[in-house]
Amino acid sequence: MSMTDMQKILEEALVMGKEYTRQGECASYIPELGRADKHRLGICVYTREQKKFSAGDTKTRFTLQSISKVISLAMALEHCGFEKVFEKMNMEPSGDAFNSLIKLDLADNKPFNPMINAGAIATVGYLVSEINFEEMLEYTRRVCLDQEITLDQRVFDSEMSHCSRNRAIAYLLQSKGILENDVEESLEQYTRMCSLSVTAESLAGFGMVLAGGGLHPTTGQRLMDKSAVQVVKTIMLTCGMYDGSGEFAVRVGLPSKSGVGGGILSVAKQRMGIGIYGPALDEKGNSIAGRHMLEYLSQKLKLHLFAED
Ligand code: DON
Repeated sequence: MSMTDMQKILEEALVMGKEYTRQGECASYIPELGRADKHRLGICVYTREQKKFSAGDTKTRFTLQSISKVISLAMALEHCGFEKVFEKMNMEPSGDAFNSLIKLDLADNKPFNPMINAGAIATVGYLVSEINFEEMLEYTRRVCLDQEITLDQRVFDSEMSHCSRNRAIAYLLQSKGILENDVEESLEQYTRMCSLSVTAESLAGFGMVLAGGGLHPTTGQRLMDKSAVQVVKTIMLTCGMYDGSGEFAVRVGLPSKSGVGGGILSVAKQRMGIGIYGPALDEKGNSIAGRHMLEYLSQKLKLHLFAED
């Protein structure tokens, strides 16, 4: 595929995606997120040939939100090991909203997976005694190939003053013996990771690192543990789009992770990383235009994991 073809496909995806921004709404349960312009939209592709293609708002900063769950999981796997991470957490899709705590108090009491809030707070909880926020920030900058990533203090403050549900989840996790480290510290660290500001370009860079099994796309330096990358991509495929994960896997077929800031991170097997910014969300909390643009791209470029030639 020529460079102009790829650029054309992204421009087409953007025009098509714009049709959907009207139908979605910015997240409003965190007041600072509600201030975003819902018509913003951008898509960036980073290919294994080290080419970057961008259309729309790909340099606008927005917060990682739930996409940070991928980073926390990778770090926990690297620092604590697979056995420890999944000793008190499952790896099954939940079928419930990302901030649900209904089933956490039932059944075997374990969070369903590390991509929902309960699982991610537990994951960060394992890490707080091992590493500090600066190290998590550095790791995030490295894997996103973006040294400009910083904490968005306004989003962090806004979120911390509206986190009753997450606080309830965290204390429930403590009561079950799943969260053993300091509850408030774990909650703050989880929220800090959600409040890191990225761009669609940073997400495309991260996607390419994941697509390449954890290697830096230009230097070949190992940035992430290979086995952690395999686990993370599998869980993104089955659980990355919350209770919309099943349909998204059928329609798009790419390991992906969304965040309520409007970002989507997608990985096309060994070929490319894709980053989206589109803060108008559907009812499940996924970027509505982003979802449609990824479906378009997946079809056009035959990216679906199970696409037949
Ligand atoms: O825990 C929260 O409420 C947010 N900071 C992150 C959640 C999120 O991104 C869910 N996404 N769709």
